[in-house]
Amino acid sequence: MKIAITGATGHLGRLVISRLKSRVPASSIVALVRTPAKAEGLGVEVRQTDYSSPATLDAGLKGMDTLLLISSSEVGHRAAQHQNVIDAALNNGVKWIVYTSLLHADTSHMASLASEHIGTEAALKRSKIAYTLLRNGWYTENYTASVPAAVSGGAFLGSAGEGKISSAARADYADAAVAVLTGQGHEGKTYELAGDTAYTLSDLAAEISRQTGKTIPYRNMPESEYAEVLQSFGLPEAVAKAYANFDTGASANALFDDSRTLSSLIGHPTTPLSSSVAEALKQ
Ligand SMILES: NC(=O)c1ccc[n+]([C@@H]2O[C@H](COP(=O)([O-])OP(=O)(O)OC[C@H]3O[C@@H](n4cnc5c(N)ncnc54)[C@H](OP(=O)(O)O)[C@@H]3O)[C@@H](O)[C@H]2O)c1
Repeated sequence: MKIAITGATGHLGRLVISRLKSRVPASSIVALVRTPAKAEGLGVEVRQTDYSSPATLDAGLKGMDTLLLISSSEVGHRAAQHQNVIDAALNNGVKWIVYTSLLHADTSHMASLASEHIGTEAALKRSKIAYTLLRNGWYTENYTASVPAAVSGGAFLGSAGEGKISSAARADYADAAVAVLTGQGHEGKTYELAGDTAYTLSDLAAEISRQTGKTIPYRNMPESEYAEVLQSFGLPEAVAKAYANFDTGASANALFDDSRTLSSLIGHPTTPLSSSVAEALKQ
């Protein structure tokens, strides 16, 4: 059986491939990458594909049985790009697509992210190819990337209020993808994947304080003010506004889920917040 992985040079794709290689022969894995120069060292066959180029996708999916479609990072173009991938999978007789969607995509307060995922989920259902939806929650790394700035600036900034955040490490979501790809009976299933233990950004700031021995409070601010702060740190305006808006979604518990589906799927607890903070403090 041949398994293709898109986005294989990304953070998640790399973790999936390294884990998958310990479960199936490397010769059965094909990495679909936009930039082959970044794929050195993956240790599997590499094929150049671009989500926006149907011809490359058609060639890339030749002979593949299963596809892990890791959602594109090009927000705003993703529905069309993912449709290209699904069409190429159909042309090539791919039998099963596992797709990384968004936690509670159909009811999410994060409309700017959810709409493209809902569109892709609907396209998969229309395609008649067997599918599995991995509705991934927030990566803990999205927040812990700001730990060094919080330590140097003396506060953790955000606009998520006291929203409860059930994030998990990327490695946990990679384990879930591998568990599904190598397991049985997942066709037609939708998994809401999130961390075992929810926290607020105040809890995160308290954990940073505990581990550094410094007082790092959480400073909550209105969405527009937070967007301005992010811009002042050098983020492009659109990105700053999007990130601040994600925090507003988080304040309404868009990132909360207490089903523990992720840990039951992967057979171990999700990575604790304390470990992710410790990892970030090493950077
Ligand atoms: N759950 C969350 O918290 C969260 C957070 C951020 C993103 N996401 C979603 O999850 C996905 C995986 O996360 P990640 O951390 O691995 O993201 P990442 O590190 O940014 O990787 C994105 C991957 O997508 C590839 N890509 C982008 N545009 C492409 C195109 N037009 N054609 C082919 N490949 C393309 C990139 O290729 P290059 O190496 O050539 O750039 C890269 O391999 C993201 O793409 C995004 O949809 C989820």
